Amino acid sequence: MANIIRLAALGALALAQFAAATPVDSVAPTVTKQCVQLQVTVPVNATNLHYEIPRVDSSIDAIDWTLNVTVYNTKNSSERVTGPYPVNRSFYVNAQLCVPSVKSPKSQILQIATQGLGYDKRYFDVEINPGEYSYLNAAIKKGYSVLTYDRLGTGKSEKPDAYDVVQIPTETEILAGLTKLARSGKLFSASKLLSAVTSNDPILTYKPTKVVHVGHSLGSFITFSFLVSYGKLSDGALLTGFLLSSKLGSIDVSRFNHDFAYQHDPVRFAEYKNKSGYIVLKTESDIQKLFFHKDSFEQQLLTYNNQIKQPETVGEYASEGTVGFLPAYDFTGPIQLMAGEYDYINCGGYCPGTYDSVNRRNPLWPNASDYFPYLQPNTGHGLTLSKNASAGYEVMLGYLNTHGL
Ligand SMILES: *[C@@H]1O[C@H](CO)[C@@H](O)[C@H](O)[C@H]1NC(C)=O
Ligand SMILES: *[C@@H]1O[C@H](CO)[C@@H](O)[C@H](O)[C@H]1NC(C)=O
Ligand SMILES: *[C@@H]1O[C@H](CO)[C@@H](O)[C@H](O)[C@H]1NC(C)=O
Ligand SMILES: *[C@@H]1O[C@H](CO)[C@@H](O)[C@H](O)[C@H]1NC(C)=O
Ligand SMILES: *[C@@H]1O[C@H](CO)[C@@H](O)[C@H](O)[C@H]1NC(C)=O
Ligand SMILES: *[C@@H]1O[C@H](CO)[C@@H](O)[C@H](O)[C@H]1NC(C)=O
Ligand SMILES: *[C@@H]1O[C@H](CO)[C@@H](O)[C@H](O)[C@H]1NC(C)=O
Repeated sequence: MANIIRLAALGALALAQFAAATPVDSVAPTVTKQCVQLQVTVPVNATNLHYEIPRVDSSIDAIDWTLNVTVYNTKNSSERVTGPYPVNRSFYVNAQLCVPSVKSPKSQILQIATQGLGYDKRYFDVEINPGEYSYLNAAIKKGYSVLTYDRLGTGKSEKPDAYDVVQIPTETEILAGLTKLARSGKLFSASKLLSAVTSNDPILTYKPTKVVHVGHSLGSFITFSFLVSYGKLSDGALLTGFLLSSKLGSIDVSRFNHDFAYQHDPVRFAEYKNKSGYIVLKTESDIQKLFFHKDSFEQQLLTYNNQIKQPETVGEYASEGTVGFLPAYDFTGPIQLMAGEYDYINCGGYCPGTYDSVNRRNPLWPNASDYFPYLQPNTGHGLTLSKNASAGYEVMLGYLNTHGL
């Protein structure tokens, strides 16, 4: 139960440069970005678990599922496990690589961003007033390159089985796969190009020298899990919408409602026809509760969030317990955790006093060069959609810069 609850939390939920002398300031304010759209084939070898959870084929089932996993019985997700479910195959993942128009040491640092439940890659590239809200643009302006992608089951990525396949272990391996491809300069050879690029365009040979991992909510959980297994593949991490709070796990899925995705909107979610186990947040009010805090957001951003919301899988909720809070021994970079002061998912709505804000060390990252939890004032869980988002980006990107990235 505790797993499901924390899950829920996530579900609901869900999320630096060369010191002194270098680039950030040398990047012109007029820096623009060049982006390519890719369909990447990512090989995965993961061990998921099969869980005894009810089927969800309608919105009635979706509500029943909520009750089944929180109220009806005392089975927690580990007690629901009936056996391992090995996954050994490739998935297609829709990704976007953006590089700044001005080449610098910073542009050789690639940020790979993983968003949380309920979103696709637009979470990091909000289309309304992007100068204020787009994290992607903020990072590009500082000179970084950025890889965003639709998590499995969302956006234009593959939508496989929602029970046994779209689970956190699979998603962790996808992040690892993308990281390995990017680091080895093989991203393009593993991809189908979805946008027009001339064959001699330098972006097609882009190969980073360093990789920073950025997450939000479930995406931070996935990144966390990735650092445990593949810490050597990361030079720094920004886990947002994520805080080691004593209240983490206090909010369960019965606090907000989901519909069966296809039934919710058969036009918009046409691809989810007969996709058992794919659910989506029901109303704008559910979204407000989970991601926003009064007086710290513009109405149009809430409306926008409802328009871009993405389906989630019941397997993602069930598998939350498989992550485990194990130390990432091989990770030696700096790691920043950032949550909104009024984060509902991580802190039950109010973060001050629920976490250790004093120590710059944490046993989960024993070899990290630095550990820094930060509360973004007057903000809820949806950091990129809240007022003052850009000031939060300054804190994130400034942290990397201060720590040599
Ligand atoms: C789930 O239940 C099992 C068996 O009762 C117990 O050993 C385990 O600690 C529980 N897990 C959580 C996360 O509560
Ligand atoms: C796949 O994963 C399993 C379990 O994690 C491991 O035993 C096996 O060696 C892996 N296979 C390959 C080809 O990497
Ligand atoms: C919860 O779902 C499981 C799996 O479908 C089912 O076996 C169990 O009977 C359900 N519990 C209740 C109380 O409906
Ligand atoms: C995993 O897939 C690869 C490639 O398809 C295959 O060679 C290998 O035997 C598979 N491993 C298992 C354990 O099924
Ligand atoms: C969806 O399921 C219904 C009922 O089982 C079936 O009649 C229909 O052919 C299925 N449609 C698709 C596209 O699989
Ligand atoms: C990380 O720290 C542990 C002890 O906390 C140590 O045993 C291990 O060798 C370290 N690993 C690296 C890569 O420095
Ligand atoms: C905006 O965010 C910055 C960076 O976290 C913070 O210093 C500032 O106080 C915030 N402003 C408001 C009005 O909350």
